Amino acid sequence: MTIKKIKNKLKITNTKETVTFKAVNPDIRSSLYNGNSITVNNEDVIYRGYKSWLDLAQVLNCRMLTPEKIDDNFVLIRYEKLNEDSSFHKNIVDKEEKYGENSIFSKIHKNEETAFIHYYMQALENVKIETRIRILNLGVNSGDEFEAIQALSKNFENQELIGIDYCSSAINAAKEKFKRSSNISFYTHDINKLDELELGKFDLIISIGTLQSSNLEFNKLLMNIVQNQLKRSGAIILGFPNCRWIDGEMIYGARVKNYPFSEMGLLYKDVIFSKKYMQQKKFRVTVTGKDYIFLTATSISTTKQNH
Ligand SMILES: C[S@@+](CC[C@H](N)C(=O)[O-])C[C@H]1O[C@@H](n2cnc3c(N)ncnc32)[C@H](O)[C@@H]1O
Repeated sequence: MTIKKIKNKLKITNTKETVTFKAVNPDIRSSLYNGNSITVNNEDVIYRGYKSWLDLAQVLNCRMLTPEKIDDNFVLIRYEKLNEDSSFHKNIVDKEEKYGENSIFSKIHKNEETAFIHYYMQALENVKIETRIRILNLGVNSGDEFEAIQALSKNFENQELIGIDYCSSAINAAKEKFKRSSNISFYTHDINKLDELELGKFDLIISIGTLQSSNLEFNKLLMNIVQNQLKRSGAIILGFPNCRWIDGEMIYGARVKNYPFSEMGLLYKDVIFSKKYMQQKKFRVTVTGKDYIFLTATSISTTKQNH
């Protein structure tokens, strides 16, 4: 079935109902790129792999269900239409508790999303995480990003980790999670008033999905953090969401107001500003990722010293 036909079918399908269509069983061939024409049982058909069907499910705001095998040559692809009203983004409570313990956000486990954790771990390795003694996380929420450091760093016990968030229920959950780790502290505090905490300078500053919040001024804040909280030899990891959370699925592509489709202009603007600014300050910068874009900056002076 063509994409147009699937789209038309979805238009007359209710939320949470399933749309099905027949496709070539991708397993009957290997090393074949999508779109090649093959003959199956004297029928000319277009070959497509599961990656293509999964991508299509995502762009059509569907969840791909387990396909059913029709016979050795064909499968039934099954898409469930997502409930877009059950989106985290549409359930806004008060500002500080939007990401709190009882929010839809608290049900999201980013560390279990391959497209997040792979690139986050890569960024941690890129900054040589075990060499970073003082680590600050802005917008730490319930501390998931520290769990990944704990799992990866061979020097965890000697590191000092500090997490800031203005959401008190998330900070309480983080404190509970790390109650046995005396090297970690959490503060319920507004990032706009970071100076008040007098935390000193850090070897690594991490901020994921936070600095672009509407209550923060991205450029000003980044410059302030780099000038006042980051050691000259330090490193920074910034994570920019390039996805939405809808009805249990992480859907690729950033959304901004006034566009009914994914639009990444704002994302690229902030990434490029950060890249140029960090390079000006003599940091080596890499940009990686997929559903989250990671900007990693390491001081060129330390890189030189290390060699
Ligand atoms: C999208 S969440 C990201 C949380 C976590 N880093 C993650 O990626 O799962 C943004 C976090 O920043 C916090 N936040 C937003 N503005 C803040 C501010 N001005 N001061 C402190 N925390 C803030 C929110 O409470 C929330 O926990």
